[in-house]
Amino acid sequence: MKHERVLVLDFGGQYNQLIARRVREQNVYCDLMPSDMGLEKIREYAPAGIIFTGGPNSVYEAGAPDIDEKIFELGIPILGICYGCQLIAHKLGGRVSHADTREYGKSEISYGKSKLFDGVSSENVCWMSHTDYVSEVPDGFRVSAKTKTCPAAAFEDEERKIYGIQFHTEVHHTLEGDKILHNFLYRVCNVSGDWTMSNFVEEQTRLLKEKLAGKKVLCALSGGVDSAVAAALVYRAAGENLTCVFVDHGLLRKGEAEEVVSVFRDDMGMNLIKSDARERFLTKLKGVSEPEQKRKIIGEEFIKVFETEAKKIGAVDFLVQGTIYPDVIESGKGASAVIKSHHNVGGLPSVVDFKEIVEPLRDLFKDEVRKVGKELGLPDSVVQRQPFPGPGLAIRIMGEVTEEKLKTLRDADFIMREEIARAGLDREIWQYFAVITSTSTVGVMGDARTYEPVIALRAVTSVDAMTADWAHIPYEVLEKISNRIINEVDHANRIVYDITSKPPATIEWE
Ligand code: XMP
Repeated sequence: MKHERVLVLDFGGQYNQLIARRVREQNVYCDLMPSDMGLEKIREYAPAGIIFTGGPNSVYEAGAPDIDEKIFELGIPILGICYGCQLIAHKLGGRVSHADTREYGKSEISYGKSKLFDGVSSENVCWMSHTDYVSEVPDGFRVSAKTKTCPAAAFEDEERKIYGIQFHTEVHHTLEGDKILHNFLYRVCNVSGDWTMSNFVEEQTRLLKEKLAGKKVLCALSGGVDSAVAAALVYRAAGENLTCVFVDHGLLRKGEAEEVVSVFRDDMGMNLIKSDARERFLTKLKGVSEPEQKRKIIGEEFIKVFETEAKKIGAVDFLVQGTIYPDVIESGKGASAVIKSHHNVGGLPSVVDFKEIVEPLRDLFKDEVRKVGKELGLPDSVVQRQPFPGPGLAIRIMGEVTEEKLKTLRDADFIMREEIARAGLDREIWQYFAVITSTSTVGVMGDARTYEPVIALRAVTSVDAMTADWAHIPYEVLEKISNRIINEVDHANRIVYDITSKPPATIEWE
C-alpha cells in the first residue's frame, strides 16, 4: 500500500530528525532527504507537502544550501522552519537581516489569523534559535505572527500554500507546536493520516510472508530493541523457519541474558540458540585495559562465536538486520538508496552463508520501533530498553575486566536502574548507568578500613547521543541510590556522580 508522504528537506539543522519524527507522530509518513535532491526527484516523490528544515547557515553565505525557485510553482504546500523560512523570503523577494545577537530560547509570540494557528492560543510561547531574521516578507505574503525581535515570526501566502515560521515547532518548548504542525499537515496539505504502527505491522507481516515463504531465516539477537523487534516481526511471517542466535558474552546487565531466553524462547516460542560464551570472552579480555583494544577483542570474538553457531544451522536464505531509519539517513544516501549490510552487528554478513538481507525496520525511527514492539507483544523491559553499547559492561569497567568487578557493576547498576524507574525518571533520561573507575579510595565501614574502586554514576539527557546533558536527578534520588549501593553491593565504599555534558565528555567513560 502506498502511503501519503511528506518530504522533509534537510538544510543541516540539528533538529531535522526531530521534525521528521514529529510528522510521523501525527500519523503521516515522511522522509528526510538532502535539500539538494533536485526538482525531478521531488516531483517523482509526489509529496503531499514539503517542509524545509532549519540549518546553521545564513542565506547570504557563499555555499549556503539553496533551493530551485521552481519548487514554489509545483503547487505543493511548503512549510519553511527557521533557515527554511529565511530561504523562502530570500528566494521570493523578501528581505533577510542580520541581528547583532543570536536569539536562543523561549520567546513570547502573538499568533494572528492563519490556518496554521487554528485552535492555538494567540498569546503564546515559542522556541527560537537564530541570528538572521526575516525583516520584509515577499510580495503576496502577509505576516501572521510576531515576537519582540521578529517582525515576521510567521508569514504566509495562503493562496500558494507557502508558509514560513522562524521558530521551532518541533521542540517541546514551543507550546502547541504539535497543533501547528498538525494544522499544516491536515488543514493545508489535507492528509488523512494513514501511517500507524498497527497498519505497519499488518502490512509488513503480509509483505514478509510473501518474501520469506518457505525460506530459512537467521537473526542475531543482541538484547537490544532493534534486533528484538526485527526478530519478533519476522517471526510473525516466518514462524518456525526463523532461527535466532543469541551470543551471551557475559557483558550484559543484570538479568538481561536470562530475559532474552525467557521472552523469545519461553514466551514467544521462537527457535532460539543461546551460545554461552562468557568464559571465552573473559579469558580473551584478561589483562586488557585499553578501551579500544577491549572493543576490538569483543567485536572479533563475537563474530567468531556467531560464525560457529551459524555454521551449525547451515546455509540460510535471509539474514535479518535491525537497521533503522536513522542508520539509513546517516549513511547519507536517503531513503531510496540501496543500503548495504554494515549496520548493527559489525561484520556479520561476510561470515554468514546467506543469500539476502532483510531489514524490516529500515523505515522506522526508534520511537516507532518501540511502538511496533509493543504491538507485537514484547514486554516494556525489552522495548523501552535504554541504549546500550555493543561491548557492554566491558567499557564501563575502567582497566581490566574481572568477574568480581562485573558482579559489583551489575549489582550497582541494577540498583540505579531500579531507583530511577521508581522515581519515574526512566523515560526522561536517555541513559543511566554505573561505572567502576580505576581509582581506589579509602573508606571506613563498621570500624574497619576499606579500600575499593570508586563507583561513578552517569545519567544523561539527549536527543540522539551526539550531544548530551548530565541529568539533574533530584538529590533524594541520588542519595537513595548511593545508600543502597553502599549497603547492598560488595566492594562499594564511595559513589560519585558525573556532572559533565557531551561535549566535552562522552556518554560512556571509555
Ligand atoms: P559516547 O560514549 O561516544 O556514546 O558518547 C554515544 C552512544 O553510543 C553508545 N556507544 C556504543 N555503542 N558500541 C556501540 O554499539 C560501542 O563501542 C559504543 N560506544 C558508545 C553509547 O552507549 C551512547 O549511547
